[in-house]
Amino acid sequence: MSPTREQAWETLTRHTKSEALLRHALAVEAATRAYARRFGEDEEFWGVTALLHDFDWEMHPTLDQHPQDGAVILRDEGYPEEMIEAILSHAEHLSLPRDTQLKRTLFACDELSGFVHACGLVRPDGIDTLEPKSVKKKLKQPSFAAGVNRDDVYKGAKELGVDLDEHIAFVIQALRPIAPELGLRTAAGAAT
Ligand SMILES: [Fe+2]
Ligand SMILES: [Fe+2]
Repeated sequence: MSPTREQAWETLTRHTKSEALLRHALAVEAATRAYARRFGEDEEFWGVTALLHDFDWEMHPTLDQHPQDGAVILRDEGYPEEMIEAILSHAEHLSLPRDTQLKRTLFACDELSGFVHACGLVRPDGIDTLEPKSVKKKLKQPSFAAGVNRDDVYKGAKELGVDLDEHIAFVIQALRPIAPELGLRTAAGAAT
């Protein structure tokens, strides 16, 4: 049986306490869900996969453990192999083939969601009026959100076969409805 979001949220929050990490999970989930809808895929399955992709980072904060040791826990908890494989494939150091649309989407949304989030944090209205051109400009500034791997952002869009501008616009749009949960200010929120 396919795991529910509720189940995944329980697994995630049992292993992850950091607000920043939970926000990252929510952002990648929102972007991946939006692509599932666009591609006519199983939104719940894709969403759960994205929500859990870094669930073990807090306990396994190094690449000799994440996400491979996390995969063992997910297997124990009964998550389907297709989901676990997709989660493993987001890790560049494992060099696994991204041979499904879910794998390509997860990888394409992972670093970019984090980057768009970072762009929103330094703007007075968060991501309300954020446009791809300003995201692209910031991608070229190595000191901004230095933890985000630029090569992964470009590679992700390329592997997914989407134009970078469109991909950025798509991710921004996917994150807007959850801006308050991401700790981003919104024009609507500022008025209240
Ligand atoms: Fe990761
Ligand atoms: Fe991630």
